[in-house]
Amino acid sequence: MIISIIVAIAKNGVIGKASGEMSWHVKEEFQHFKDTTLGYPIIMGRKTFETLGKPLKGRLNIVVSKNKYYKIPFNDVVVKLSIEDAIDHCKALGPEKIFIIGGGEIYKQAITFVDEMIITFMKFEAEGDVKFPAIIDNEWKIEKIKDHELFEIYRYVRRN
Ligand SMILES: NC(=O)c1ccc[n+]([C@@H]2O[C@H](COP(=O)([O-])OP(=O)(O)OC[C@H]3O[C@@H](n4cnc5c(N)ncnc54)[C@H](OP(=O)(O)O)[C@@H]3O)[C@@H](O)[C@H]2O)c1
Repeated sequence: MIISIIVAIAKNGVIGKASGEMSWHVKEEFQHFKDTTLGYPIIMGRKTFETLGKPLKGRLNIVVSKNKYYKIPFNDVVVKLSIEDAIDHCKALGPEKIFIIGGGEIYKQAITFVDEMIITFMKFEAEGDVKFPAIIDNEWKIEKIKDHELFEIYRYVRRN
């Protein structure tokens, strides 16, 4: 099972606002996110889920929170107490791939062990205080997969 991060990062490293708001809305980038993740389990932090407000369709939504009393009013959303528990839950279902979809706190932990990252680099700076962790380029094989007027998409595969 491939464990992949998917993220969109502004030129200044920003991925969102601490208030939970997204820093930009680019329809084609959102479409890329949807096309890439559809059909696969997605793991996200509690704050990112609250920003979305509801589960993303066509994907098993797993939310992580350290609060054992945290409840979500959607029957089809799985809540786990750790990222490891969320990954183990997916492994038992046998998908070929799973996606870690943010936000900042979850990326910071997951970047240390994921196999792959699908990163959209936006061609503009954005307002916000949540940033993606530093990427050490020589730990990854990097391949450009798309060029668009407003962004470029790269696949990072961890070197063994
Ligand atoms: N640009 C992008 O691609 C992208 C993608 C996703 C999100 N975002 C942005 O990112 C921002 C949110 O990021 P964030 O860093 O504030 O929050 P976050 O990572 O979405 O969620 C943090 C919460 O996750 C839980 N958590 C963290 N580590 C955990 C662990 N090891 N085990 C169990 N639970 C854990 C905790 O919930 P409890 O407090 O309940 O314990 C924590 O408060 C928003 O602005 C959003 O728009 C951007």
